[in-house]
Amino acid sequence: PTISRHDYQPYPYRLPHVALEFDLDPLQTRVSSRLEFERVGNVNEPLLLNGQDLVLESVMLDGQTLAPQAYRLQDETLTLFPTKASFTLQITSLCKPADNSSLMGLYVSGDKLFTQCEAEGFRRITWFPDRPDVMSRYRVTLRADRMHYPLLLSNGNLLESVDLPDGRHQAVWEDPHPKPSYLFALVAGDFACREQTVKTHGKRDALLQIYSDRGSEPKTQWALDCLIRSLQWDEQRFGLELDLDRFMVVAARDFNMGAMENKGLNIFNSAYVLADKDSATDAAYRAIEAVIGHEYFHNWTGNRVTCRDWFQLSLKEGLTVFRDQEFSADMLAHDLSGAEAASARAVKRIDDVSTLRIAQFPEDAGPMAHPIRPESYQEIGNFYTATVYEKGAEVIRMQHTILGETGFRAGIDEYFRRHDGAAVTCDDFVSAMESVYVQRNPGKNLDVFRRWYSQAGTPRVKVDLAYDAEAHTCSITLAQHNEAVGIERLQSPVLPKPPLHIPFALGLLDQQGKPLPLEHDGKAAETVLLELTEERQTWVFENIAHKPIPSLLRNFSAPVIVDIERQESELILLAQHDTDPFARWEAVQELATRQLLCLTRSISDERQSDIASGLTETWKRLLHDPNLSAAYKTRILSQPTEKELLEKTSPMDPAAVVKAGKHMREQLGRALAPDWLDIYRATSGNDDAYRPDPLSSGRRSLHNLCLHYLMAAGHPDAQPLAVAQYYDATNMTDRMGGLSALVHFSDSPQRQEALNHFYEQWQQDPLVIDKWFALQASAPGATVETIKSLMLHPAFSLRNPNRARSLIFQFCMNSLQGVHTPEGYAFWADQVIALDQLNPEIAARLARAFDNWARYTARNREAIRAALQRIQQHPTLSRNVSEIVSKALKIQ
Ligand code: ARG
Ligand code: ZN
Repeated sequence: PTISRHDYQPYPYRLPHVALEFDLDPLQTRVSSRLEFERVGNVNEPLLLNGQDLVLESVMLDGQTLAPQAYRLQDETLTLFPTKASFTLQITSLCKPADNSSLMGLYVSGDKLFTQCEAEGFRRITWFPDRPDVMSRYRVTLRADRMHYPLLLSNGNLLESVDLPDGRHQAVWEDPHPKPSYLFALVAGDFACREQTVKTHGKRDALLQIYSDRGSEPKTQWALDCLIRSLQWDEQRFGLELDLDRFMVVAARDFNMGAMENKGLNIFNSAYVLADKDSATDAAYRAIEAVIGHEYFHNWTGNRVTCRDWFQLSLKEGLTVFRDQEFSADMLAHDLSGAEAASARAVKRIDDVSTLRIAQFPEDAGPMAHPIRPESYQEIGNFYTATVYEKGAEVIRMQHTILGETGFRAGIDEYFRRHDGAAVTCDDFVSAMESVYVQRNPGKNLDVFRRWYSQAGTPRVKVDLAYDAEAHTCSITLAQHNEAVGIERLQSPVLPKPPLHIPFALGLLDQQGKPLPLEHDGKAAETVLLELTEERQTWVFENIAHKPIPSLLRNFSAPVIVDIERQESELILLAQHDTDPFARWEAVQELATRQLLCLTRSISDERQSDIASGLTETWKRLLHDPNLSAAYKTRILSQPTEKELLEKTSPMDPAAVVKAGKHMREQLGRALAPDWLDIYRATSGNDDAYRPDPLSSGRRSLHNLCLHYLMAAGHPDAQPLAVAQYYDATNMTDRMGGLSALVHFSDSPQRQEALNHFYEQWQQDPLVIDKWFALQASAPGATVETIKSLMLHPAFSLRNPNRARSLIFQFCMNSLQGVHTPEGYAFWADQVIALDQLNPEIAARLARAFDNWARYTARNREAIRAALQRIQQHPTLSRNVSEIVSKALKIQ
């Protein structure tokens, strides 16, 4: 059954008050609800409640038990036929947390109880109008065995905590803020807690708490610090203050996604809470900061203002990802200024754009292509996508770029002025922004911009530069092309798509690489923002003495692909001189990509080929540039990933892409060996106390990059350095750097020795063992046999999503060499089927590993098709997996 955005109907009842009572028990939990309904209109409409995997015990209407004839109970709905304008329903039902391997609703993780309700998990807890536009105040009573569940948490404030007979106890919580059911949460179990009281901007006290497994409390200081910084940042940058007396974060070992922003009671995948220097890498520290920020920022963008329906998911996710990206960038640039601050922020921008290109661009070109506000879905759990999140964030960022920081802030203020406390649409958000835009741009509006919300696909923007040597003018012509994508291509005729509003940031450099001041809208600047709103537009710049070199799409001002014909020499000049650090990185990436594509072709034709000296020289110069930070150097000297490259080959040829990447790494490793060695030594840490700060983590990342190139080159010093780095490390970043160098590039006995040593040392720490599995699964030599034997390891479990991701997903999604084989595809299909019996949401993610199967070379294509068909024919497929597979098979 497909649900369409246009079928939205408001719920015919309000539900201002909800009281829930839980008799918690892992085997069987009884939930009793008391729901006070009020009719919205004047006529009695049927009252529809959702429920899934529940046993209904009783239904009472205004205190009278209803006979089964008085309601209609179907598989996933309970319908009542009220006759009054207001009435109270009391429902009692049972659910089975220990049997719930889907990790949606109420479930068991370790010896504790957790909930996950977004998007439609609440219906697995009790019969309810489980939709985001029904908002209620909740009062929650939790009862459980006191020994096993000493801590009982829910949203809001603790009203009462008392002992009961039979070793049980009870806690009563009340959340003063009305919320939709997806923001409900409860947690029960034995936890350690780290807490701190902070003063909000408005001088209120707020108690911040981080709960984790007993024994892991030494690893929660960083998460608490991040939470405090998130509070301060949201006050400073957006004027948004915490509206709660108590804000709790709880770490769970088993969790489907990153984390969940339940009002006042965030539940987190423990991977985004726990860190100390011995177990977490610098990247893990940064990821914790991003996710803590993300969930905290949802308190306003998501919770205070929420979504009317799930088609509006990007309203909260795109906006909140944008906010967490800005938070992270501000943290990196903290106490820097000028070019240094710009470069620090660019590091974050580069990482975000890489994610977009690796995860979202392919999605936007394949069978699951959808606008950031989808038009239809079969299973909403399948739409927590890179498009809704990451492209959604780009669409918010473009509004920020068009309006500027103060304009955007004015738009956000207006958004909250209009919609605080309501469940609204993406269009409501754009309208608030537009109210500012029209003030500043009389006669214009955001009508064309709104198309970003309804149009899928990555636009291509073709750039033409024409220089008039006599008039000293330079004309820039931008032409956008929006191609049909995914199932759109199956329609006949294929419908043309209208142009989008694309903010295109541009600079011009002279032949020496000096930035030219550009006149635009009466101001002179180094960067101008061209607003492309038609299919093709031309801008003319005057007083340009010589033909300039354009620096395009600065800071990645729009999620588009730029097409321009240009000489390698121009890219080399930009690589050295572009003042926009993002565009400068992009120029180097483009140089490397050209080289890699050229290698890919020669590999397909079985020719030998070397990499051009222009590239090596450019890299060498960058490597020694004293003005570049180590973090930025690491990005600029990293090869484009195999996945990005694969997207650019046609047909997609994974084997050739892998070989080309390897070849280039070896050659760059060899050609610059003395340089890598120098920098490796220069970036060795001293024995100072570890801190995950931007400066020292940048140094460690460059250090590890050097080691990788030396290993790739087979340099005689490399392996001893890697072994020493591994064993001598005083933090996990260095240790993983050493180990991954060995695991990826060596087949000596030291490789296995180090792996064994690592397991011995860390076997008690599940997050570290995840890394151990992941490293082996993504190593170039990993085969189906490697993975199957690791699955037999006692530490492996398919039920724990982190573990499944670290082994199965790593292999299927990131080990191009191992998985793109007939055995690889068959293994993938087996795992999708096996996982689907346990956890449909996770299975559906794995099912998307080869979305773009139809674009592969013929041999791969046929083998993937066969695997897809085998999944499709499995008799018990979840709605999640069947939506993915049926869409994939539609594309031929
Ligand atoms: N709202 C959460 C976040 O963005 C994601 C929760 C989605 N959960 C799920 N089971 N699909 O942080
Ligand atoms: Zn989110």
